[in-house]
Amino acid sequence: MKRIFSGVQPTGALHLGNYLGAIRNFVDLQHEAEAIYCIVDLHAITVWQEPSALGPNTREVAAAYLAAGIDPKKSIIFNQSRVSAHAELAWIFNCVARIGWLNRMTQFKEKAGKHREQASAGLYIYPALMAADILAYKATHVPVGDDQKQHLEFARNTAQKFNYDYRGGDENGVFPLPEPIIMGAAARVMSLRDGSKKMSKSDTSDMTRINLSDDRDTIADKIKRARTDPDMLPGPDVLDESGDLPEHTRKSRPECFNLLGIYAALANESWREVLQRFEGQGFGGFKPQLAELAVEKLGPMGQEMTRLRNDPAEIDRILADGADRAAEIAQPVLKEAKQAVGFLLD
Ligand code: AMP
Ligand code: TRP
Repeated sequence: MKRIFSGVQPTGALHLGNYLGAIRNFVDLQHEAEAIYCIVDLHAITVWQEPSALGPNTREVAAAYLAAGIDPKKSIIFNQSRVSAHAELAWIFNCVARIGWLNRMTQFKEKAGKHREQASAGLYIYPALMAADILAYKATHVPVGDDQKQHLEFARNTAQKFNYDYRGGDENGVFPLPEPIIMGAAARVMSLRDGSKKMSKSDTSDMTRINLSDDRDTIADKIKRARTDPDMLPGPDVLDESGDLPEHTRKSRPECFNLLGIYAALANESWREVLQRFEGQGFGGFKPQLAELAVEKLGPMGQEMTRLRNDPAEIDRILADGADRAAEIAQPVLKEAKQAVGFLLD
């Protein structure tokens, strides 16, 4: 059976990368299969979160899920810390996954930076908790941005090792091997100021990102001031035979292809369509059109988020209901895992 699981951290304002790389795909997928969308507060505290901000930030992600079009009756929306199966299964996975696997994780290296010794132990074992999130529901498909591919591979390896160690193989295994779903032209949205860095909540400059809560003027201004290069926009001849953008081409003009990719994703168009449309134009003509499109697509979502922000009780009710439904699925899976390990249970 197909089951979708994904998560977003409640660590601050959401941006266009979160929307195009992840949340927008959640909306479409809920029609294909049972879908569970988590707000991963346990993951958030792997780096310091102000306690008074964690609740509002959690509601903010819930508001974005709802405003984007996730239906809380059909899909499950909840915050991770409410369902204890995540932390319990994560402990078992800490004992299955190997230190060598963790040492290869590029996100830890990026986030810990030069101060590795000062990073929390949680930041280091973060991928085991992410594997637990997914596998506690025996989820088969995980929509994420490009940056999470390696963590998904870690979850697959963990599921596979658990199945071999405790059940002698995948055929009788407790866990399915989850597949990533990485979609479209904007699976990796880059900073508006530096096309080699991804758009991120943690960038100190707000001009690098478009927040889902930005108003029309702010969106237009950020696009107008986005970094570009002096050349004209390229045509579809830069694409390969299958219509994809080769990596070396993207890297040759990172800011240019980032803006074109954002346009393609927002307009639901292929690279070919977008390149045909803008071939030979300058950024002076292209940017206002991109700004108009972004305002048109993001504006209504921003308004709905504002409405929901004024109704926290409604969000809290949805999260509590989601947690009950999530726990009902996760508890029997956790029990199965505990039995496989050999723990004495009731
Ligand atoms: P996070 O905010 O790190 O919890 O990310 C939530 C989701 O958004 C994950 O699926 C990420 O892969 C995705 N995401 C974050 N930043 C970007 C980006 N710049 N481009 C595309 N997807 C992103
Ligand atoms: N690590 C993901 C991120 O930073 C968030 C996340 C936590 C997640 N658990 C997950 C994503 C499970 C997909 C599935 O973006």
